[in-house]
Amino acid sequence: MSGGINFDENSARMLEKTYQTPDVLGQRARFHALLGLRPGDRVLDIGVGPGLLARELAETVGADGKLSGVDQSDAMLSMTRERCSEFDHADFSLADACELPYPDASFDAVVSTQVYEYVSDMERALAEAARVLEPGGRIQILDTDWDSVVWSTRDPGRMRRVMDAWDEHLHDAHLPTRLGPLLEGAGFRVYLREVVPLVNPRFQKNCYSYGISAAIAGFVIGRQGISEEEARAWREEFKLLEREGAYFFSLNRYIFAGIKL
Ligand SMILES: C[S@@+](CC[C@H](N)C(=O)[O-])C[C@H]1O[C@@H](n2cnc3c(N)ncnc32)[C@H](O)[C@@H]1O
Repeated sequence: MSGGINFDENSARMLEKTYQTPDVLGQRARFHALLGLRPGDRVLDIGVGPGLLARELAETVGADGKLSGVDQSDAMLSMTRERCSEFDHADFSLADACELPYPDASFDAVVSTQVYEYVSDMERALAEAARVLEPGGRIQILDTDWDSVVWSTRDPGRMRRVMDAWDEHLHDAHLPTRLGPLLEGAGFRVYLREVVPLVNPRFQKNCYSYGISAAIAGFVIGRQGISEEEARAWREEFKLLEREGAYFFSLNRYIFAGIKL
């Protein structure tokens, strides 16, 4: 369990599907481009999840480089190992972000996307990331602030309660507001802060909000006084708004990058 979510086989499959929609593909492409990796680099992906980014990073660093990944979920690791099975220079381990199984200064870059928001001891997690990086190595992080969500509804009270309940799936649903000082405190010089907006003008299967709304509707039942019927009605409203041409969803992801001093 992590922040209220059980990253088992079901949620691994759900994430794999949701993270391959065109909007999330765009987010991943931007994150990868900003990293500026070169063939031969040694990279660590903390919280690899279904391994979509890990696979792209392994391709970029090539056989002269190294891609390592950790995750605390066996289900996620199996999926990632299968996805990256053709790469001899990729290895994956069951480990916690706060206890990385690598020697000091063993990577040129460390990345972590949508993971640190689940971690309670961020000082320790960032100290570990700094420890395994070479001096001059880079860390690049992407996390969501759920206060940035804009979602069409005719029942703002219900939407507020559903979003409050959904915040419970993370340790910190507003981590980006704290990340700059946390990184500086861990010995990094922050050189980049960038926002990546997801925008869905339609409620369709191939967009992030379609998949994540199903996960939210399941998670919030029994929290903030939300019944199964109310959770279902919350999601059904999006279908109605879509039919009326009145659907809209937007959410910001924040990228922070720093250099280990
Ligand atoms: C929302 S998924 C993101 C996966 C992947 N980074 C991506 O962006 O596609 C969060 C992942 O972080 C992992 N995770 C959460 N807390 C962790 C921790 N303390 N240590 C290692 N992995 C963790 C979960 O098991 C899950 O695979």
